[in-house]
Amino acid sequence: MRFGYFDDKAREYVITTPKTPYPWINYLGSENFFALVSHRAGGYCFYRDARLRRLMRYRYNNVPTDVGGRYFYINDGGEVWNPSFAPTNTALDAFECRHGLGYTRITGERKGVRASLLMLVPQGHTAEIHQLTLKNNSEQAKDLKVFSLIEWCLWNAYDDMTNYQRNFSTGEVEVEKNGATLYHKTEYRERRDHYAFYNVNAAVAGYDTDRESFLGLYNEWGEPQVPAAGKSSNSVASGWQPIASHGLDVKLAPGEEKTFVFTLGYVEVPREQKWEKPGIINKKPAHELIAKFSKPEQVDAAMKALADHWSKLLANYSIESSDEKLNRTVNIWNPYQCMVTFNMSRSASYFETGIGRGMGFRDSNQDLLGFVHLVPERARERIIDIASTQFPDGSAYHQYQPLTKRGNNDVGSGFNDDPLWLIFGVAAYIRETGDYGILDEQVPFDNDPKTAVPLFEHLKRSFHHVLNNLGPHGLPLIGRADWNDCLNLNCFSETPDESFQTTGNRTGRTAESVFIAGMFVGVAPDYAYLAEKKGFADEAKKARAEAAKMTDVVLKDGWDGEWFLRAYDFFGKKIGTKENPEAQIFIEPQGFCVMAGIGVEGGQAKKALDSVKERLDTKYGIVLNNPPYTKYHVEIGEITSYPPGYKENAGIFCHNNPWIIIAETVIGRGDRAFEYWKKIAPAYLEEQSEIHRLEPYVYAQMIAGKDAVRHGEAKNSWLTGTAAWNFVAISHYLLGVRPDFDGLRVHPCMGGEVGKFTVTRKCRGAEYRIHVKNSGKGGAPKLVVDGKPVAGDLVPYAKAGSTVIVECEV
Ligand code: BGC
Ligand code: NOJ
Repeated sequence: MRFGYFDDKAREYVITTPKTPYPWINYLGSENFFALVSHRAGGYCFYRDARLRRLMRYRYNNVPTDVGGRYFYINDGGEVWNPSFAPTNTALDAFECRHGLGYTRITGERKGVRASLLMLVPQGHTAEIHQLTLKNNSEQAKDLKVFSLIEWCLWNAYDDMTNYQRNFSTGEVEVEKNGATLYHKTEYRERRDHYAFYNVNAAVAGYDTDRESFLGLYNEWGEPQVPAAGKSSNSVASGWQPIASHGLDVKLAPGEEKTFVFTLGYVEVPREQKWEKPGIINKKPAHELIAKFSKPEQVDAAMKALADHWSKLLANYSIESSDEKLNRTVNIWNPYQCMVTFNMSRSASYFETGIGRGMGFRDSNQDLLGFVHLVPERARERIIDIASTQFPDGSAYHQYQPLTKRGNNDVGSGFNDDPLWLIFGVAAYIRETGDYGILDEQVPFDNDPKTAVPLFEHLKRSFHHVLNNLGPHGLPLIGRADWNDCLNLNCFSETPDESFQTTGNRTGRTAESVFIAGMFVGVAPDYAYLAEKKGFADEAKKARAEAAKMTDVVLKDGWDGEWFLRAYDFFGKKIGTKENPEAQIFIEPQGFCVMAGIGVEGGQAKKALDSVKERLDTKYGIVLNNPPYTKYHVEIGEITSYPPGYKENAGIFCHNNPWIIIAETVIGRGDRAFEYWKKIAPAYLEEQSEIHRLEPYVYAQMIAGKDAVRHGEAKNSWLTGTAAWNFVAISHYLLGVRPDFDGLRVHPCMGGEVGKFTVTRKCRGAEYRIHVKNSGKGGAPKLVVDGKPVAGDLVPYAKAGSTVIVECEV
């Protein structure tokens, strides 16, 4: 069942009912000011850090779900309704929510009144704009009482929801222009040099800044007393819960339309200029910001700038084909989600509260794979930030904080796959840009400037961190965990509330990871190539030799006969073997070992992927392991804490399905790869939205696996490495256009379902138009570049500014 449709021309998903199976959200903002907005106008905004600088209050896990947002109450002859349906839930005659790239437009209609609410964060500004257009489509004149409403968060979102003994007394506001501008100046008198405001570009009939006065102490958001009475109470908050609400009297003749622009802004004021006079805040920066968006034409211009911004970004990789679902995924929604993961990392979504995690070392390097072709300059900066948190021995803080850019001591280090992801990220960046200069950039360890060395040295320490930490079989030690945060082989936790990731009471050097081994073999050629470029021929030779050695180890002690083993535990026992009753096979090493080329010649790769098909594939995607764990194993960790079929315990982790997809292309089985890809690509799931439940325009981290009670149901949409990896799978391997160090590789491998397609790729300043005739047979492509046949699959990089025409038959 569908709850909307794609409007590809407008680059929007159009939701046609407020009653979707879960709140379907969008993100606004691309630099410093961000917002989450659901199809019912729920959500919140923040400046840079969702924990420390939150403007709007949002109650996670509330009843009902998704309460708190930008609400407009319309009193039409005594009946109160919202264009967003929520929170009054008054029936609407028409409803539509259009989520677009960086904006959302919600339209509701009741008894001849149409209210359309456009929300966006203008490029380069720290404000959410709400443009409300009211139109009278009826035959009668309308005398509407309209009330805006937002609830302020007292800045620090954690304190805001825990420390009531203090914060019920700290809220402060100011009222200006009879209530047209309402200021939230909580804590401004002391250490904060910032405030927020909510303005409307019209004369108001009244205002409210105190929640209790607006709602009534025992009223729900859907039964507020001020809108019901049709009259603001002009309340001035003092402590408790400050809000901002404008009251507008709107008279509309039949056919008449009126537009109002509301600016919800954030400003910072230099400390010596904070006050206009004692107790009165300096409003100049607010006035300046308001002046920029107080006219609808200014909002139109901001919308135009936003559209141009996205057109430019998305032009870097696009496809034309007969499959519209493929087109919309590649051209619009997958890169859009990649940019959101770049901006948010794993901080704020409808599953991540914005007060928890920092930026992951591993996560951020992987996200880079999905956005480096969109914003390469920002990828460069991100790489330096990440590498600056590394330790001198090559190990890495698992997370760092975006505001301070420092490693997070609470989570610490010891995830032994982390260092290798840096090589991954840097190689992807250099392939995209050709900027080898980044390797000479001076980068510190643990943010201590005295320790700075060239970035290449960081890669070297990453590589050698693996070699310096090998276990009894010569496989890499796993440490706290590898990619699978929940495979905790040195943790042995018996105490509730301990973190599986940071509790480690075993320091043994026995638990080994076949996944890290595959990763090591996979990145070694890139590392060796970069070493050679820097003139370290011996190091390159060593890297290649070590990779060959590791390949042998994997084929000997990491092979179970029909698939790759997952690991050895603390006691040296195998994990992921048919000898065990549960979790006999895991997805991760099958993907990573085959991507690295291990066993391709000897046939093990094909066997492993056939085992994946046989044991892990389901109609909704590939599960992580099988059979699932049914009991808690102290020596295996968090994975065994999840009920069968959920999360890392045999859930469909959409993040590592693309590894199998890519691996299938490595052995030339494009048809199977494309079939797997379509199983989890959101656009193809639209028709089963009642089962999948989450947004049909973005990936979720996890879909419940075949052993789960709710097989097919997704969780954790938006902020997941799934976005980047699926973009790599479809664009680099299935459609087969990927930047390499010395040219653009063109090697489609996707079976014959899509016969003909054109990829347009911008890279290093040139544009490549690649026309593919795809027979589906696979194998080596035949390329003609600007009229001349070229041997192999590499199109040499052209001069910036040029356009290259490539004909490809495969
Ligand atoms: C959590 C896991 C989760 C993982 C990735 C860990 O900190 O404990 O439940 O799957 O992070 O989100
Ligand atoms: C999500 C984490 O952000 C990521 O780093 C990890 O690899 C996966 N979960 C699997 O545990």
